[in-house]
Amino acid sequence: MSGRHFLQIPGPTNVPDRVLRAIAQPTIDHRGPAFAKLARDVLVGLRDIFQTKGAVVVYPSSGTGAWEASLVNTLSPGDSVLMFETGHFATLWRNMAGRLGLDVDFVPGDWRHGVDPEVVESKLRDDPGRTIKAVAVVHNETSTGVTSRIPEIRSAMDRADHPALLLVDTISSLGSIAYRHDDWRVDVTIGCSQKGLMLPPGLGLNAISDKALAASKSARLPRAYWDWAPMLADNASGFFPYTPATNLLYGLREAIGMLREEGMDRVVARHCRHGEATRRAVRAWGLELVCQNPAEYSSSLTAVMMPGDGGRQDADRLRTLILERFDMSLGTGLGKLKGKAFRIGHLGDFNDLMLAGTLSGVEMGLAAARVPFARGGVVAALDYLSETA
Ligand SMILES: Cc1ncc(COP(=O)(O)O)c(C=O)c1O
Repeated sequence: MSGRHFLQIPGPTNVPDRVLRAIAQPTIDHRGPAFAKLARDVLVGLRDIFQTKGAVVVYPSSGTGAWEASLVNTLSPGDSVLMFETGHFATLWRNMAGRLGLDVDFVPGDWRHGVDPEVVESKLRDDPGRTIKAVAVVHNETSTGVTSRIPEIRSAMDRADHPALLLVDTISSLGSIAYRHDDWRVDVTIGCSQKGLMLPPGLGLNAISDKALAASKSARLPRAYWDWAPMLADNASGFFPYTPATNLLYGLREAIGMLREEGMDRVVARHCRHGEATRRAVRAWGLELVCQNPAEYSSSLTAVMMPGDGGRQDADRLRTLILERFDMSLGTGLGKLKGKAFRIGHLGDFNDLMLAGTLSGVEMGLAAARVPFARGGVVAALDYLSETA
């Protein structure tokens, strides 16, 4: 097909040419002085992205590795962990915690709402023995387009006066949705490269509070590759305990530079605006958002229910048609939402006309697939974009 593919899944996202060019530099000696400068630039630069003054570590891994790192560095076998069924990724993280030998209280959810801070408070108040060692929350549930309100969850933990660690997955929010590791007193924030940071997959991130670092000294889950201690020790002089993903780090330095040039507040505002434009399109089509609470709308992706809960109008049939006819990839429905929902990614290196093209592809696809819907979504989105330009 001629022209550019539209990669509108909620990550991996489109990699800007500047980042691709940065990655295309020659690979260097990862034990030499040029590498030490690169590593320091990146490790310091990431602090702004996480909004922390504390340590950030970078693994050559996917986001799943960074999840595992957050658990094995802070917890011991049999520790109780409070987790919430907000969607597919929260479920996968729960499953991992179970496999690692943690005792998970998994609060059931309907995959259409974020974590309820009141439930956090009551669960912690019901734990006078302080056996719960961590509360683990997915900030932006990529399977549903629902965010959880981390500052309110933090306040709920404070009201309960409970010492549990707060672990937050920002894999699909970091670099696109407002986030403040230090101000919100998060203990471990989990991130990765292939979403708001506009890089290819391959880097997993942990931002670490002093409290989490202290917990890691006595945590007893087995850890080797993910161990923060040798990583932090070597990072202090700009090196890694094993071979880092050198070229991705070149790309990361460039991506951090791009986010700084735009300014994080503007990056966040841009994502909010594109999220709202997308939701206006969905409403005008007469389709339903997966997210049911406006306070929890995601500005990095929008998940859309197929009419009639899937059924004959299978979401994957629509996605396949859109891919074949318009060369655009949309996110599939995951887990319980398989076939019932599709997801529109609008995060990372993205602008108004890319959104206009994306929504045009969806609208044409809905018509071609004979999904019952109303025309006018694209116009509704364009009107909003024009009014708020
Ligand atoms: C919220 C969230 N958490 C965790 C993961 C897992 O990350 P990875 O697939 O990079 O291992 C993803 C992947 O999309 C995600 O969206």
